[in-house]
Amino acid sequence: MSSEKPSIPNSLNEHWMPFTSNKDFKEKPRLITEAKGVYLKNHQGKTQIDASSGLFCNPLGHGRIEIIDAITKQLKTLDYAQPFQQGFGGSFELATRISKHTPGNLNRIFFSTGGSDAVETALKISIAYHKSRDQGQRFRMVGRERAYHGMHIGGTSVGGMVNNVKGFASILMPGVTHMRHTHLPEHKFVSGQPETGVELAEDLERIAANFGGENIAACIVEPIAGSTGTLVPPKGYLQRLREICDKHGILLIFDEVITGWGRTGSVFGAIEYGVTPDIMTMAKATTNGIVPMGAVACKEEIYDSIMDSSPKGTIELFHGYTYSGLPIAVAAGLAVQDIFEKDDIFNRVKELAPYFQKGLFSLKDIDAIDNIRGYGMMGGIDMKMDQKPGKAGFTCFKHCYDAGVNFKATGDCLIIAPMFISEKKHIDEIIEKLRTGINNYSKSKKN
Ligand SMILES: Cc1ncc(COP(=O)(O)O)c(C=O)c1O
Repeated sequence: MSSEKPSIPNSLNEHWMPFTSNKDFKEKPRLITEAKGVYLKNHQGKTQIDASSGLFCNPLGHGRIEIIDAITKQLKTLDYAQPFQQGFGGSFELATRISKHTPGNLNRIFFSTGGSDAVETALKISIAYHKSRDQGQRFRMVGRERAYHGMHIGGTSVGGMVNNVKGFASILMPGVTHMRHTHLPEHKFVSGQPETGVELAEDLERIAANFGGENIAACIVEPIAGSTGTLVPPKGYLQRLREICDKHGILLIFDEVITGWGRTGSVFGAIEYGVTPDIMTMAKATTNGIVPMGAVACKEEIYDSIMDSSPKGTIELFHGYTYSGLPIAVAAGLAVQDIFEKDDIFNRVKELAPYFQKGLFSLKDIDAIDNIRGYGMMGGIDMKMDQKPGKAGFTCFKHCYDAGVNFKATGDCLIIAPMFISEKKHIDEIIEKLRTGINNYSKSKKN
């Protein structure tokens, strides 16, 4: 990385930043200027280790030359091809490569432009599927508290992170009911899958009893709730959801935008936990986060049913995006698939995960920490609340940023998700810098 110390832009006023305390940022900006491998450089010229793979999206590291070359080559050959009623070969090739990894027969792949779009697509496909089988009465959706399914109206409605939902309550989708989240008081400092809590899956049975299982289109969950800070499913919980869905003909959607492509130690959370959903979303790591792209994998019978219900020559699903299967996203996706194979990434994650989990839980002795959870290459550290929700998390994040470790904080939870290319020394560096940053935060409170 260059040794130059870049300056900040002339004006910070015009850009309205997403999910950001704009006022705080504009007083004291944090700009990232360069990224290579597991490291970032900020505008003060300081190097930081990336402890959250960006937003869970760059697990193969920054500046991968294979991906850069693939995108460059694609741009020079074909920069854009209309995805409606025509296409280009790459998106078919990528769909085939993806389908080789999806569980069961989730072999029909619809491309979107990110995770939020993938969720909307999955919800719509579930409705279209039931309609194709003359079950148009199934319009209800079941989500879960503390879930994050992106920021569009469908995803916000089935999501359950309070601040994301409550400000928009007036415009949410009708017919949505939420199951309780799966975090119980006895799960504090539990590493991996908790032994207790399987009975929380019965919430779905109760909702089915209340509204009529025959009226419910789909139940959507993240195998591990990621954005809220790694809520790992209790043992048997996802299996039980599958059973209840089967009993009532409800489609089970796994939102694998975070858990997909290796984060749990298996290619997908569905594979890790041995539960096959009917529809699955993915995004983020699909392109190593470099070009926006999402995808929805569906069971073949869902696709077939929707195809069979429309006469030949008509559009079967009135849904799609200008950038569905954008050539450079596809090129990045194909390069990522090559790296997964070449670098044996999924086995690498399996081997590295226990080391990361041990490091993560070694922070348990720090007094300011209220709870730690983790699975695979995912971890959540809850800070003890300070006066109001979110203050401790944000202040602690800023101390860690200054200590040279970068990640995302959600409320009072520090989200830790190292890159899959990390070596043990990088995990050690992340843990050491987290300890320094959190200790500095604690000291600042005493002063
Ligand atoms: C589980 C899940 N679904 C959907 C999304 C939304 O993805 P995007 O931000 O790419 O729209 C996210 C983003 O973090 C996510 O974690």
